[in-house]
Amino acid sequence: MTKAYERLLECYQCFQQKISFKPKVALVLGSGLGDYADSIQVEATLSYHEIKGFPVSTVSGHKGQFVFGYVGEVPVVIMQGRVHYYEGYSMEDVVLPARLMKMMGAEILFLTNAAGGVNFDFAAGDFMLITDQISSFVPSPLIGPNIDELGLRFPDMSQIYNRELCRIIRDVSKKLQIPLKEGTYIQLSGPNFETAQEVKMCRILGGDAVGMSTACEAVAANHMGMKVCGISCISNLACGMTDQPLTHVEVQETADRVAPLFKALITESIIQMGKDE
Ligand code: HPA
Repeated sequence: MTKAYERLLECYQCFQQKISFKPKVALVLGSGLGDYADSIQVEATLSYHEIKGFPVSTVSGHKGQFVFGYVGEVPVVIMQGRVHYYEGYSMEDVVLPARLMKMMGAEILFLTNAAGGVNFDFAAGDFMLITDQISSFVPSPLIGPNIDELGLRFPDMSQIYNRELCRIIRDVSKKLQIPLKEGTYIQLSGPNFETAQEVKMCRILGGDAVGMSTACEAVAANHMGMKVCGISCISNLACGMTDQPLTHVEVQETADRVAPLFKALITESIIQMGKDE
């Protein structure tokens, strides 16, 4: 058994001792969405601090707990705050929470984030359904001895964002009349925002949005056979696309502004995902 898996089992045992809840959907909340969990029917919470060996985020605006509850009738586990590679954590740390949520029973991983728009057709405040990704600028979370208990050494990534889940989100966006862009998410390490040339590079490579999370989590989740979907909140146009310098405050302000629509989209999508299975 690998060290990474031993650690994961230890975290899982810690969870089991405190909570008995089997989620179907695991939802990761990005910037601006931190209070989404307040709007659901909460059954229990578990602070990351209470889980031995669990990485704890340092980013302000991230709460740092699992919330267990129901969206409609769908049992969900929500991560209020994630850990990022740029905080200095290893990729093993960064994807540990996703792996743990799979062990809790979650079949679907629903990823959300705030991201910079790279595509000139995008505007701040848009939502983008993530249909594919480029994670090649950060190390794969699967580097190191393979965790055979979780998945294959060389996992396929041809449908990293599950088509059926994408269809559900698209249908919901139409039903709720919430405009939804689509595209490829590129993960860079951060924590600095990109230069204008780096943003141009992202565009040439086929990226539509750029951010500092998500793609590595999607890789680890695919490895384990979870169904993955994701939506980016385009909090700003990326560097070089406007005259203004970028700030984290701007990212949070936009994400906060459009949060009510984002929440509606997520809630209805999860309800539909609960029906479909
Ligand atoms: N770049 C990278 N990450 C981000 C951005 C950005 O412009 N906005 C929000 N997260």
